Amino acid sequence: MLESYLCAMLKSTLIKATEAGAKVMQEFFGGSFKISNKEGINNLVTEADHASEKAIFEVIKNDFPDHFILSEESGALVTNSSFKWIVDPIDGTVNFAHGIPICCVSIGVEQEGEMVMGAVYNPFINEFYFAQKGFGATLNDNLIQVSDEQQVAKACLVTGFPYTYLDQPNGPLEVFSRLIRKGIPVRRLGSAAMDLCWVAAGRFDGFYEHKLQAWDSAAGFLIVEEAGGRVSDFSGKRYSPYQPHIVATNGKIHDELIDWVNNKI
Ligand code: IPD
Ligand code: CA
Ligand code: CA
Repeated sequence: MLESYLCAMLKSTLIKATEAGAKVMQEFFGGSFKISNKEGINNLVTEADHASEKAIFEVIKNDFPDHFILSEESGALVTNSSFKWIVDPIDGTVNFAHGIPICCVSIGVEQEGEMVMGAVYNPFINEFYFAQKGFGATLNDNLIQVSDEQQVAKACLVTGFPYTYLDQPNGPLEVFSRLIRKGIPVRRLGSAAMDLCWVAAGRFDGFYEHKLQAWDSAAGFLIVEEAGGRVSDFSGKRYSPYQPHIVATNGKIHDELIDWVNNKI
């Protein structure tokens, strides 16, 4: 457990850094900015992603100059610290680039390999999600909880698809198609961090995705767990942001959703 003074400092820096990134998103949103491609023509990075990352780094480095930072656009700034900040300066960049306000800043803080704090902020709908290990999860300072739904057949789900399609048995389209053929609503928002937070807030009953990176899920994973949900890989093992596959649910539909994803239903 974190010492309380350190904890307060980490929380304050995390909130400042998340707000700094979100301010940059707001400044660029809807305007004209430079957009370039990463691998594949639709995996975008914009001037705003870099500017948001820079603003976030300034805050973290000012307060904790020796902490490790892992961030989508800059990779790893490796140090010997036991603290690691895992940063997605804009999650939902394709939405952002098209003026669709489903995008956010996502920052998770790890201590000795354990996620201890996370924040996700979508400034366009004024939703700030925060969680600290052992202290619950909040949306704009109000405690949130996952839903009560007990069955996948009655659930509202969300998923995402990688930019490079995974052509493999039980790949993203196969799982999606099986659920849709049964009439189960499966949404696709385009921001894994928002997907996770909306599971935490009880709007979605479950989320699964095949190929995420640590920065997509680091904060949202803790937010779902702290809201009473369960997060695992496709075998049901507790989730680690360093492997690609994720199932995050209210806990009640978790085992069943894993069976759907693995084509056992
Ligand atoms: C993407 C989003 C999307 C998910 C992709 C991610 P980005 O992150 O989270 O929902 O399906 O796999 O790469 O590129 O917008 O930061
Ligand atoms: Ca992302
Ligand atoms: Ca991103």
